[in-house]
Amino acid sequence: MTSLHELEQSERTLTLSLRAHRMPASPIRKLAPLAEAAKARGTKVYHLNIGQPDIETPACMRDRLKMLDSKVLEYSPSTGTPEFLRSLEHYYRTRLGLDLATNQILATTGGSEAILFAFIACANEGDDVILVEPFYANYRAFATMAGLNIVPVTSRGRDGFHTPPLHVWERALTPRSRIVIICNPSNPTGTVYTREELEMVAEFCRRNNLFLISDEVYREFVYDGARAISALELADTDDFVVVVDSLSKRYSACGIRLGSLVTRNAEVYDACLRMAQGRLSPPGLAQFIAVGVESLGEEYTRDIVTEYQQRRDVLYEGLTAIPGVFLQKPEGAFYCIAKLPVEDADDFAVYLLSEFEDEGETVMVAPASGFYASALGKNEVRIAYVLNQNHLRRAVDLLGKALTRYNSRA
Ligand SMILES: Cc1ncc(COP(=O)(O)O)c(C=O)c1O
Repeated sequence: MTSLHELEQSERTLTLSLRAHRMPASPIRKLAPLAEAAKARGTKVYHLNIGQPDIETPACMRDRLKMLDSKVLEYSPSTGTPEFLRSLEHYYRTRLGLDLATNQILATTGGSEAILFAFIACANEGDDVILVEPFYANYRAFATMAGLNIVPVTSRGRDGFHTPPLHVWERALTPRSRIVIICNPSNPTGTVYTREELEMVAEFCRRNNLFLISDEVYREFVYDGARAISALELADTDDFVVVVDSLSKRYSACGIRLGSLVTRNAEVYDACLRMAQGRLSPPGLAQFIAVGVESLGEEYTRDIVTEYQQRRDVLYEGLTAIPGVFLQKPEGAFYCIAKLPVEDADDFAVYLLSEFEDEGETVMVAPASGFYASALGKNEVRIAYVLNQNHLRRAVDLLGKALTRYNSRA
């Protein structure tokens, strides 16, 4: 008789996991091979598709590298080095007026790892994460890694992509709802949520026993004199708020791969710390460099925000002048969602890279469909305004020319 073990052996095939199959490709990066092919043909590609700023990483960070005299590049503590944690604690105290203990701040390998830790700590496999769509596309990737389902509440361009009313959130509730994740200021919409909106979402979480993960990696990038309110500032939220943070955008240092997870919930912190121990340590070299930012004054952020606001204005004025293009003026971050006069923005994005060129140049955008869980966004693109103003003007000019040519094809 065949034993169960033998049966299992004979039926076993070398297949990937369901999770591996479900892992989505990044909508931001999936057109990269076409961009590479365009560059190989000698075409210059203006990248409006990815949030990689061209602004220099501050010299005080780069100079730290020259000071390094370690003979061994060691692991750091799983929590982060004491110096780095102190510099984060100093940042939250001086910039946000928040008194956080260093055991409420966990150093992570980018904000990305903080999102994954928070998802795993706060929900079980098969549970739901409620998010505002359009959303940062990698939330879908992290939810898939953690075995979670995403449930969107839709925000609309005509409302500046502000949150829908409470009854829409309530409709999204299921017995498996465990987490709400918001991104403030928002990638991909550039929306900065008001205190009232944040309090509504926090109250929704409080009443329904949901964790609120607030992704604030663009906290500094708010225009027209406004300010992004941190979920850590909201009253009576200590039990359920987890903040995701990052040095990538704040210091134009995406390659440093450093971020943090902040929570006053000791159990969440402890669970994330155990995950942090499992992955040993966040990058030690990066933490050594990062403490260099302590010498930066407030004018550093002010100057950068001024530059991004000017870029926002260049982009907004340029895009709204193209017939059939609609967008709301972004309030923060460095992205916008623009509606284009095309039926299929995915097809148009491919056209830009494979057929179109003007004087040897073209532009790359991210089709917005990947930022939605529903079928919306088919005629929208996400644009990142991370290029200098002259390049932005040219990129918008290329986009206008490409739309005319694309729509006049047979
Ligand atoms: C909204 C949002 N959250 C998190 C991240 C991840 O940041 P990090 O580079 O720190 O992993 C990004 C990166 O673009 C982002 O846009």
